[in-house]
Amino acid sequence: MTRRKRKVAWIVLTAAGAVLTALALNRFRRGVDRNTIQRRFWNPVYDRLATWYDAVDWLTFNTTHRLRLRALGHLSPPGSRVLEIGFGSGKLHAQLAGQYQMAGLDLAPGMQRLTQRRLAAHSLTSDLRTGSVYAIPWPDASFDAVLSTFAFSAFPDADAAMDEMIRVVKPGGKVIIVDAGESKGGNLMARWLANLWELLGDYMRDEVPLMEARGLQVKREEYGPWNCIHVVVGTRPSLG
Ligand SMILES: C[S@@+](CC[C@H](N)C(=O)[O-])C[C@H]1O[C@@H](n2cnc3c(N)ncnc32)[C@H](O)[C@@H]1O
Repeated sequence: MTRRKRKVAWIVLTAAGAVLTALALNRFRRGVDRNTIQRRFWNPVYDRLATWYDAVDWLTFNTTHRLRLRALGHLSPPGSRVLEIGFGSGKLHAQLAGQYQMAGLDLAPGMQRLTQRRLAAHSLTSDLRTGSVYAIPWPDASFDAVLSTFAFSAFPDADAAMDEMIRVVKPGGKVIIVDAGESKGGNLMARWLANLWELLGDYMRDEVPLMEARGLQVKREEYGPWNCIHVVVGTRPSLG
């Protein structure tokens, strides 16, 4: 399939899926809050259907993975200590494990098993743990970078999640978040998609004020289809 045909197919599939999902959700979701959707629907899905989660990359012709990769340009030098929060099926994690001293935290044991298998298949290692972003099981200032792709929007309590992610970053280190959201330029398609993700239970946020309020120096870039993806990089001030 040519690049152009792939792109058209992706747009048609996304739009058709989005319309059908929105119609179904509007019908069934009345009165159910997003926290409940995360807890009662998404968390069991991530755990039990971890292998299927991998199909997202295949269904989007690997576009989702290319969007994740934007985080790489902001990482600290190879060899440094990196923590990935909500590593999911571990595709990015396995890519990084060859170059960085990796650690990972995810709520879903199913995702940890899948990522562990992926790492083992390439003789790679990482300190993978099952647990929540609200209680990261490493001491203060343990990592040069804390990275999270398409997971921050799944955390109902953004303040508690951000406090923890910053706590484990060394002074001078970075918190890097890739996620979906509205475009600052007001792109209508991006706004519509953001509304759809919210219907699905996600939290569309601007992480910039959350980081600035905690004293980080922040950069934000938008990219991807309709600029609906952003990477936000916050640097913790160095000591002295
Ligand atoms: C949408 S998936 C993103 C996975 C992957 N990072 C990616 O780029 O596709 C969200 C991931 O965050 C994890 N997650 C959800 N809530 C969490 C929490 N409170 N603490 C840690 N991980 C969590 C889920 O288990 C899931 O693997």
